[in-house]
Amino acid sequence: MCGIVGYIGFREAWPIVIKGLKRLEYRGYDSAGVAIINNNGFNVYKKAGKVSTLEDFASDKDRSGSIAIGHTRWATHGAPSDVNSHPHSSNDNRLHIIHNGIIENYSTLKEELISRGHEFKSATDTEVLIHLVEEIQKIEQIDLMEAVRLALNSVIGAYAIVIIDRENPGQLIAARKGSPLVIGVGSGEYFIASDATPIVEYTKNVIYLKDNEIALIKPNELLIRRLDNVIQTPLIQELELKLEAIEKGGFDHFMLKEIYEQPRSVKDCMRGRINLKDGKIELGGIKEYADKLKNIERIIIVACGTSWHAGLTGEYLIEEYARIPVEVEYASEFRYRNPIINEKDVIIAISQSGETADTMAAIEIAKEKGATIFGICNVVGASIPRITHAGVYTHAGPEIGVASTKAFTAQVTVLTLMALYIAQQKGTLPVSKLTSLLTELNSIPDKIQTVLATDYLIKNIAAKVKDAKNCLFLGRGSGFPVALEGALKLKEISYIHAEGYPAAEMKHGPIALIDEKMPVVFIATKNSSYEKVISNIQEVKARKGIVIAIVTQGDTEVKKMADYCIEIPDADEVFLPLLATIPLQLLAYHIAVMRGCNVDQPRNLAKSVTVE
Ligand code: M6R
Repeated sequence: MCGIVGYIGFREAWPIVIKGLKRLEYRGYDSAGVAIINNNGFNVYKKAGKVSTLEDFASDKDRSGSIAIGHTRWATHGAPSDVNSHPHSSNDNRLHIIHNGIIENYSTLKEELISRGHEFKSATDTEVLIHLVEEIQKIEQIDLMEAVRLALNSVIGAYAIVIIDRENPGQLIAARKGSPLVIGVGSGEYFIASDATPIVEYTKNVIYLKDNEIALIKPNELLIRRLDNVIQTPLIQELELKLEAIEKGGFDHFMLKEIYEQPRSVKDCMRGRINLKDGKIELGGIKEYADKLKNIERIIIVACGTSWHAGLTGEYLIEEYARIPVEVEYASEFRYRNPIINEKDVIIAISQSGETADTMAAIEIAKEKGATIFGICNVVGASIPRITHAGVYTHAGPEIGVASTKAFTAQVTVLTLMALYIAQQKGTLPVSKLTSLLTELNSIPDKIQTVLATDYLIKNIAAKVKDAKNCLFLGRGSGFPVALEGALKLKEISYIHAEGYPAAEMKHGPIALIDEKMPVVFIATKNSSYEKVISNIQEVKARKGIVIAIVTQGDTEVKKMADYCIEIPDADEVFLPLLATIPLQLLAYHIAVMRGCNVDQPRNLAKSVTVE
């Protein structure tokens, strides 16, 4: 969490940094701050609230200068406030730092620094780090890069940092461990950011700083060392990201744009991976493990949040087609048990951002125990694809709305392909069945388009239930993860309390909640549990609950009972999550907009959860 941006070069830095911070607000939006250097001196502006609040605050102040660092914060240590906003400064106010991550041993370091006369203004861990750098530099009489290197060697935790020195304004120092940092390479200028979105319109050439690397950046010079002082040769890569992909493109919100992008993103995810002619799947990213897949005895899926819900659909798919037992684990729980894992196990780690701290920790644990780790990730070049043995990108394109939408359907698409790929290697599916499944999968983008055409109806339903205090989402089989995901979407962006349950579990407790004010959303499509779900709908109606049902096109039975129905095209049960999730995303979106919520940046959340 937290977004950081830096610029050094010949342009005015303020607009670059502010625009960059706005692009990174998905990483946190509790407060924002900028430190900027010009010929007349040095200015720091910090404000609690969004980047736009900082922008308003500084609008009548001196914002000139061509060297600057900026930060948008997701608070961990210290409440969101002006004083806890970054940049933080050294005791003598000479050095200034922006930081994404957590310094775990900050309290010990802080006590020691206080005992040596340091005074702290904020409650943050970050301020401790800059005081430490200051102290080391003064005692050792060394340059800033070396002082930062020594300080980082005594720090435990995760960080991406950029430091600016008001007495030596021609340079920036950046470093990373566990939090992402990208350096954009221009001609006579450099850009630094948590991801490439603030950089893409200025240069396509980037360097992904690696863990334990520290960079000295001047307008015409870049020097990278490791923390053990070995000089590194930077690898300049070309960005594939396009500017249009990170703009709203006429939609009111990124979330709505991303919901509407799903026919395209699911197609992109399948592109080049399905050979319909021969009934085959090609997954280049895990190809070299094809033989191993024939003999695996167990798959463990680790993920968090929406990605965990995608994992549940993966369990269903892999067990159904590849006949391998699958366990789906919250990464945060898995990492703190002593999980029983061996070299025959395959772990699939799912993450949109590729930076989720718990998922990364789970991967490291499974790796130590000898398992083979596959990643399913959206952000190219993120940390998770770097630490896994192999993997498959989802290619959904940048997802900027904090609520995950197109990333979920892309993850489910990849899991479908993986399940069928493993089945293909193991020979658990006849080619004819594989071909018919692939043909149907290929038609899913068009079917998603059909679901999107019901948006106006979903908006009407949203208007009827927008004032609910609670909401239940119920589904069975592959409809259960859909119910969980529908509930998560609603609660995270509209702040209506929502729970997802397997429909049959309702009578074991949640049924007590049902009254005439309670909307209950059913995944009631025509599949193997259709009749059973109908019984559950009747149980809700008998208690006067408001039933909203996702049904198969042409359904007549559920329509007799439900208060509102949303039709989706018929599809094999295994593809249900790819279709039934879409109306739930739209329902949550419209309800949240009608309640005046900030759908793209819901309170307390951040897109990349880089703290545990
Ligand atoms: O980037 P990841 O997929 O690892 O993120 C995991 C969760 O934080 C994420 O899926 C979260 O639950 C969604 N943004 C909710 O919509």
